[in-house]
Amino acid sequence: MQLHEKIPNNVNLSQNRRLQRALEKWQPNYLKWWKEAGPEDFQEDQIYLRTAISVDSKGWANFDYVKMPDYKWGIFLAEPEADRRISCGDNYGQPAWQEVPGEFRNHLRRLIVTQGDTEPASVEQQRLLCKIAPSLYDCRNLFQVNVEEGRHLWAMVYLLHAHFGRDGREEAEELLERRSGDFDKPRILTTFNEPIDDWLSFFMFTMFTDRDGKYQLLALAESAFDPLSRTTRFMLTEEAHHMFVGETGVMRVVQRACELMKEDPNEDARALGGIDLDTVQRYVNFWYSSSLDLFGGEISSNAADFFGAGLKGRAWEGKKFDDHVALEQFYEVDVAENGHISKKEVPLRTAMNEVLRDQYVDDNQRGVDRWNKCIAENGIDYKITLPHKRFNRKMGIYQGRHFDTLGNPISEDEFNAKASQWLPTAEDRVYIKSLMKPVLEPGKIANWLAPPKRGINNQGFDFEYIRHA
Ligand SMILES: [Fe+2]
Ligand SMILES: [Fe+2]
Repeated sequence: MQLHEKIPNNVNLSQNRRLQRALEKWQPNYLKWWKEAGPEDFQEDQIYLRTAISVDSKGWANFDYVKMPDYKWGIFLAEPEADRRISCGDNYGQPAWQEVPGEFRNHLRRLIVTQGDTEPASVEQQRLLCKIAPSLYDCRNLFQVNVEEGRHLWAMVYLLHAHFGRDGREEAEELLERRSGDFDKPRILTTFNEPIDDWLSFFMFTMFTDRDGKYQLLALAESAFDPLSRTTRFMLTEEAHHMFVGETGVMRVVQRACELMKEDPNEDARALGGIDLDTVQRYVNFWYSSSLDLFGGEISSNAADFFGAGLKGRAWEGKKFDDHVALEQFYEVDVAENGHISKKEVPLRTAMNEVLRDQYVDDNQRGVDRWNKCIAENGIDYKITLPHKRFNRKMGIYQGRHFDTLGNPISEDEFNAKASQWLPTAEDRVYIKSLMKPVLEPGKIANWLAPPKRGINNQGFDFEYIRHA
């Protein structure tokens, strides 16, 4: 079979010899990576997966049984917008670029490599979860997320191969050589080096960290470099499912906690083998604060440069904002000095990371509201909250300082005294681990989790999502 037949694409691969040659070399290494660093089990089984075979509404969600190593990782760009114009920055209104301008080559390559690196990293972080999946449905969703993150790597590698020549090809190889958590060759961003070895963390990761991904992709979708914009726009269609897995996953943990609280005389979900809401809250605090770090510094000259050059915009630049040059405006950032918070007006362009982070905060709150609605419907008096964005930050202007979950400055001693109420404790982690036993019969589910309201692609929950070889 010809390469272009193995790789569904809308980038005219069959006509592009140079790209074919580059991918012919890369693809076997990719498969080697998948087998080595992808899901540790189930590689020979038939999984009910969605594959994108084209970008139109019929082709992007094709469901069938497939062995993961045979998954057709394709290369898709959203349909071109006729006469697309640059949506932000100094060159606002000029024609978008179809090729990489020399002066922005390094910046663009760096942006693409950093985004590309997170995709295989998350597959590596999640590779052991299939051994402790709480149901066949959940295991299938995990694999769906994994193969699509693999495809997102393809998407970034396509850009490197098609637009960055030899150093692009070298970067593409290195994307397969780094490993999450590896001492010598770690993944680029810290969060992507933490193992995810329980399903509560997986649901939190897909809720909060994949949503960071959504906002990075939305910012790149505004890029003046049109192939990057089109690539990320198509990736966003897949990303929605990852956040669905996270949001509904946590919702089902919460639902089950409520059911067990009602059964137990002391309203103690743990006593009946569930995950109590306080523990859910601590995991929220940890994963949310760590995902906030991924947006970068609150006041950043890099962010200003990227926006000015039109390499990145704000999420929904066209829809949500009026002034797309952003040279005359200011943004209010809270700075912490001598134990006080004061408001500081900074030039808007330097605050673009913070603008994107604030858009992300609002998006998360909508999900949390849905969890709280579920708790209220169960007649239980409890509210999950997002901690303040200053809480537990390891990057940016709040790092090295201490704040409570409402954002008030506190001393290090006060923080340490409360840490076990706010963040997952060693004991929490041991308890959560103790619940992680595989349940892989169709229609069965672990005791700590409620089944989903409906299955995938109109199938029932008891559908055979994985057929053992
Ligand atoms: Fe992704
Ligand atoms: Fe994702």
